[in-house]
Amino acid sequence: MSKLHIIDHPMIQHKLTRIRDINTGAKDFRDLLKEIAMLMGYEVTRDLPLTEIEIETPMMRTKAYEISGKKLAIVPILRAGLGLVDGLLNLLPVAKVGHIGLYRDHETHNPVFYYCKLPEDIDHRMVIITDPMLATGGSASDAIKMLKEKGCTNIRLMCLVAAPEGIRRVQTDHPDVDIYTASLDERLNDNAYILPGLGDAGDRIFGTK
Ligand code: URA
Repeated sequence: MSKLHIIDHPMIQHKLTRIRDINTGAKDFRDLLKEIAMLMGYEVTRDLPLTEIEIETPMMRTKAYEISGKKLAIVPILRAGLGLVDGLLNLLPVAKVGHIGLYRDHETHNPVFYYCKLPEDIDHRMVIITDPMLATGGSASDAIKMLKEKGCTNIRLMCLVAAPEGIRRVQTDHPDVDIYTASLDERLNDNAYILPGLGDAGDRIFGTK
């Protein structure tokens, strides 16, 4: 069964409070999102496998550890998922970045596919899908399905705020995919926005409102 990781580190919770605040403008919103992504990245990559190697310190020869040849890909769901990419890349500078474009139909709230560009060897990579808002879970579930159809077998989903409805959907559709979030919020409203949430993440990142 997929695991739900709620990353409630005090520094992340403090920054999340600033991000939720209606008075936080686009520049601060982006900066905070980047900082949170980097902090959450420690947990999302906590189980990366290590290889034992031998090195020479100035004092002696010793055993040490390095991350084994695991290749990574970050796949933001456009457009809000982009807000989590730079923070993760600070931590994982050699990760490749793919993009999946899905927008929400305003009436049905169902995801509509419009773009996909992925690294050629995506099926050999551990994939971190990013989307700050896990609301109905429709987009995340479709993105995971798309990646599985390309042969990906090691996928994790990183968001910022999740609704119980979205978590249920992803866990039902993809019991093999772990979910990482900084907060489990209360519920969705009638327009499928998360409560208390933070509003429209894409608009707040790009200042389009
Ligand atoms: N997408 C958002 O940007 N915000 C929500 O609350 C739900 C989906």
